[in-house]
Amino acid sequence: MFFSKIIGVGHYVPENVVTNFDLEKLMDTTDKWIQERTGIKERRFHPTEEHSTAKMGAKAAIMAMERAGVKKEDVDAIVFATLSSDYFFPGSGVLVQKILDMGTIPAIDIRAQCSGFIYSLSVADQFIRSGMYKRILVIGAETQSVALDITTRGRGTAALFGDGGGAVLLEAHSDEGKGILSTHLHSDGNFADALRVKAPGTGRDKTFYPGIEQDHENIHPYMEGQLVFKHAVRRMPEAVIEALEHNKLTIDDVDMLVPHQANLRISQMVQRMLKLPDDRVYNNIQKYGNTTAATIPILMSELWEQDRIKEGQLFALTAFGSGFTWASALIRW
Ligand code: ACO
Repeated sequence: MFFSKIIGVGHYVPENVVTNFDLEKLMDTTDKWIQERTGIKERRFHPTEEHSTAKMGAKAAIMAMERAGVKKEDVDAIVFATLSSDYFFPGSGVLVQKILDMGTIPAIDIRAQCSGFIYSLSVADQFIRSGMYKRILVIGAETQSVALDITTRGRGTAALFGDGGGAVLLEAHSDEGKGILSTHLHSDGNFADALRVKAPGTGRDKTFYPGIEQDHENIHPYMEGQLVFKHAVRRMPEAVIEALEHNKLTIDDVDMLVPHQANLRISQMVQRMLKLPDDRVYNNIQKYGNTTAATIPILMSELWEQDRIKEGQLFALTAFGSGFTWASALIRW
């Protein structure tokens, strides 16, 4: 019997800090509005193509491998979560493989947006449980800034998102009850249009049609913010409870909740619904905004750096996002 455990965590964010005050100069918004509604104070926007999604993912992966003390030659597969791949195709997984010179191991991209990291963790966990691979890099990285409409027209979404990458290295082990205990994935495509970027895409005559650059509703993120909020605060705690019940555990067993960083108000509501005290929930959206598939590995990498991950602790991961997709995972360190 094989199970998977996380043996290294890493992250990378661009140095370029964009504060709410910087956004005030570019659109009709205020630091007060953004902080009150989202908790965000600043985010990172990549300054050049030197910080593409794959490049940030590769840097996070290097940190995860170094912290694990594992050489790239000993990794069997790459699973990459992103909604902002460098190319239309191929995905960013193979680009990381090229950047890091990782031979001919398989590299796949997972498109599950904000839930992408937990979906990818689940895919990698199943590969390891089946005995197919022993070590897998799971990466989540996003370059949101290039797709945002950073004007007053786009202020409803432009203030929320940021760039960054995170990664974990999973390894097979045989110690039941340790590592990834279970993952739980859901989606509801009826809400596909409630949070999306529609173009460029193949759902029309031409991928790049005349006037695409002015088609602001389709080339920038479109979001029904209040609908997303309403579903997120229902689905994220629901997924945590599902995971706990599956493992015959209760919320009292959880040492740390690691929620996808969509909005601090969403995290706070999820925390209240699960009746968790402040010291058992970790948020960092204040610094980075919503980095979509990267939020959870960035949070875990910071917890790792702060020495806040202890052997035997139980972590609950939960995410909600475009699709709609939502997911949870339980990890026993
Ligand atoms: N600055 C100032 N005013 C703004 C801004 C801004 N950045 N953005 C919107 N407004 C204005 C609107 O234009 C509107 O003005 P109006 O009343 O004159 O029309 C007013 O503020 C209220 O707008 P609402 O959209 O109703 O504001 P709401 O209270 O719903 O807050 C928010 C918006 C923060 C986006 C909220 O709906 C939310 O957090 N939703 C969840 C979104 C989310 O988390 N998305 C990401 C999750 S999925 C993923 O990660 C991909």
